[in-house]
Amino acid sequence: MEKFEKNMKAIVLHGGHGTRLRPLTHTGPKQLLPIANKPMSQYCIESIKETGINEIAIIVGGTGSSKVREYYGSGEKFGVSFTYIEQDKPKGIAHAIRLCKEFVNNEKFLVFLGDNIVQRSIADFTSNFKKSEFDATILLCEVDNPSRFGIAAIENNKITKILEKPKDPPSNLAVTGIYFLTPIIFDVIDNLKPSGRNELEITDALDILLEKNHNISFEMITDYWKDTGTPEDILNANRQVLEHICNQTCIVDESSITLSNSNWITPSIIGKNCKIDKSARIGPNASIGDNTIISSDVVIENSIIMSDCKIHGGLNIRDSIISANCHLHGNNKDKTKKIFLLGEGTKITL
Ligand code: TTP
Repeated sequence: MEKFEKNMKAIVLHGGHGTRLRPLTHTGPKQLLPIANKPMSQYCIESIKETGINEIAIIVGGTGSSKVREYYGSGEKFGVSFTYIEQDKPKGIAHAIRLCKEFVNNEKFLVFLGDNIVQRSIADFTSNFKKSEFDATILLCEVDNPSRFGIAAIENNKITKILEKPKDPPSNLAVTGIYFLTPIIFDVIDNLKPSGRNELEITDALDILLEKNHNISFEMITDYWKDTGTPEDILNANRQVLEHICNQTCIVDESSITLSNSNWITPSIIGKNCKIDKSARIGPNASIGDNTIISSDVVIENSIIMSDCKIHGGLNIRDSIISANCHLHGNNKDKTKKIFLLGEGTKITL
């Protein structure tokens, strides 16, 4: 008899503190922040759907939880079915996973952190895991700064240890936020002690699985993977996704075209009903959300401007993230480069 049932379910983590992204996260969860005009967690959901899994639990918590439910609804719009599970406090990734024991029941499952972006399909990783006898499979990716990540030590093509943010990293192979697991992990989490930052860590749970001689395999992500914890990470992901989707042209919604013939530099994306003056310069690497107005001589480069913003007065905006409903007035004379990181509804006159 098979150890686990044949189907697989998925869990998307949509909670957390989001402290490194303040003030952007004061009014909503980081996973709803747009990358190329689409919430970052929607990329995860589309990746999961592509694997054929259609039962997805979304872990929500804190002030952002109603926004997540409102955006994703029952899942019908996305061709999947969502179950929402509340996490009372961000007590760690392993804590969030433990809340899904009943949802998962006796099936293998996939956990996807809602702030992780991968370009490559995970469908073949999923079918390999489904067919396998492994107790877990993790996806690894080479990184330049291993002390910032959970890192896997490998010997003879086998994982021997998993360490969280090691000072002396045994490799540069980061454990990404995509985990293939079996219900065996729940017993491990039940006996897990909180870490120094008072969270139940998934890296500790995986390391205990290894210590107990459970079989953890790994697969490599050799192209783009990003964990978007900081503003720089978000701009980086935005650039990467734009390059991937734009194919030498800017993506401009039809409802915005008639209002503008401004200077667009690829790769860039412009949402619905935007009014952009013809003397404005948009791009490269700019994402402009719906209903945003950009007037004369404004420059927007390598930046995310969310919906319903108004930007006037010849501002030269670079490397910035400007949340929804912000109003910015430059003074038309100062054309020096400006960098903004603005929470929702900010009003600035220079
Ligand atoms: P992190 O980026 O490690 O933590 P965070 O979201 O709390 O952010 P910060 O460090 O800036 O304060 O979280 C990784 C992912 O897991 C992210 O998608 C949020 C999610 N998460 C939960 O859903 N519940 C939790 O308890 C924690 C800690 C994270």
